[in-house]
Amino acid sequence: MSIISRSIVVKFWLTMVLIVMIILFFSGLVQTRELKKLYYNQQMEQLIKEGEHISINFAGNRLYPLTGILKTMADMLSANIMIVDSEGYIKECQGMGINMSGGGGERINVAGHHGMPWKEQDLESVKQGRTITYRGPNSFFDKDIISVAVPVYEGQQVTGAVMLSAPLAPIEGRILDLQKITLYTGIAGIILATILSLFFSRTLSRPLLNMNMIARAMAGGDYSRQVEVKSKDEIGILAESLNSLSLRLQDKVAALERLDQTRREFVANVSHELRTPLSIMLGYTEALIDGLAHSDTDRQKYLNNIHEEILRLRRLVTELLDLSRMEAGQVNAEMHETDVAAVAGRVFDKFQAVAAKKGVELRNSLPSVLHPVLANPDRLEQVFINLLDNAIRVTPAGGVVEMTAYELKNELRVSISDEGHGIPPEEQPLVWERFYKVDKSRTRTGEGTGLGLAIVKKIVEAHGGSVEIASMPEKGSTFSFTIPKKL
Ligand SMILES: Nc1ncnc2c1ncn2[C@@H]1O[C@H](COP(=O)(O)OP(=O)(O)OP(=O)(O)O)[C@@H](O)[C@H]1O
Ligand SMILES: [Mg+2]
Repeated sequence: MSIISRSIVVKFWLTMVLIVMIILFFSGLVQTRELKKLYYNQQMEQLIKEGEHISINFAGNRLYPLTGILKTMADMLSANIMIVDSEGYIKECQGMGINMSGGGGERINVAGHHGMPWKEQDLESVKQGRTITYRGPNSFFDKDIISVAVPVYEGQQVTGAVMLSAPLAPIEGRILDLQKITLYTGIAGIILATILSLFFSRTLSRPLLNMNMIARAMAGGDYSRQVEVKSKDEIGILAESLNSLSLRLQDKVAALERLDQTRREFVANVSHELRTPLSIMLGYTEALIDGLAHSDTDRQKYLNNIHEEILRLRRLVTELLDLSRMEAGQVNAEMHETDVAAVAGRVFDKFQAVAAKKGVELRNSLPSVLHPVLANPDRLEQVFINLLDNAIRVTPAGGVVEMTAYELKNELRVSISDEGHGIPPEEQPLVWERFYKVDKSRTRTGEGTGLGLAIVKKIVEAHGGSVEIASMPEKGSTFSFTIPKKL
């Protein structure tokens, strides 16, 4: 186990042990005090009752053999019973190892006697009929005692006192018992705290340790791991946050990697596309400089080739600029209410001649009235041009290229279908990417840059629409796009 779990569990354990000990200490203290009070009061009351009993029944009564009775009673109560006269001189003293009757040889006064708890004023109080009590150490009996002095009456006159003393030992033993129970409870509490801490370490520190491991893995670039979320408490929330953090980081990193990859490919492709026309132009120019063109016709041909490459380069640069402008979100700036049918009609007219020359039949099947859309008409025209250009190029002589459109609830859907060679399903998603060409051999022979469809997709998406391909190899393809209606 690592430091975290150890410290948290140990802290928890120490806290619990401390709480258990504090509670037990104070409850023990209070209990001891209360018990002592209760017990002493009870014992005191008991002694007073016995004292009164002796005082009333025996002390002034000379019918009974007093010494014997006192002896028996002292044994029964495990106490010492003393009878003193009104001056405080001991007449009888029985119990707790003392057997003194009739004053013995010398007269002993309880007040001021070195071992007795009583003083002169105590005797005065008794004489006035009050019962007095004492609790504490006593050197006469050589132990802690509790004592009572009860007046003895003869008529209305106080003629002496009954004094009962009992050792405190029994209650001390009880308290020791209680303290032992408190101690055992404490030990049980500590064991319980330990068990709870172990349980706690499973439910608390284990998920924390797990999260720590996963956070470390994330720091090392591994976002694939997820914490198992079991609880709905603070730890569960933390685990969920960690999981969503890892997912988001994973997405971010993947997106960054994709972007980086695209950029690198893009730069490579652009360089390649720029280099090819440049080397062709270089070749023809050198041939011209070296006088390799022998006739005017040759020279003219070379110059035409160079001119063609320049046009190609200009187109490439224009398209790249268009793409980057669209990526910067500049299309939306010039949007206004546009009639798609009108735009399609203009492009149709432009391509009529090209199609006819190739022997391809071009059909405009758009309805003459369509719900207006919010669009940039020049960009929309570019979409039609790029799609028609592709369609006519791939369709052989005798084939048909058709433009259609229909209205959906919230958008227009425009399709351009051809009778070309089609696109294999696995290539369909790729044709929208910059510089992608299905037929690699056409790279050089045709004039395509592979940017047309990427531009189409960018324009359509900038208008809030989407693009789609349906194609059957050797039968033809249908390129569709949607564009939201103007509200
Ligand atoms: N109607 C179609 N039928 C079959 N394949 C097509 C069709 N339209 C496009 N493609 C394939 O998709 C590739 C990408 O098309 P895109 O229009 O982006 O580039 P291009 O036509 O090669 O060049 P550019 O449009 O920039 O002149 C094409 O090279 C072609 O292989
Ligand atoms: Mg194209």
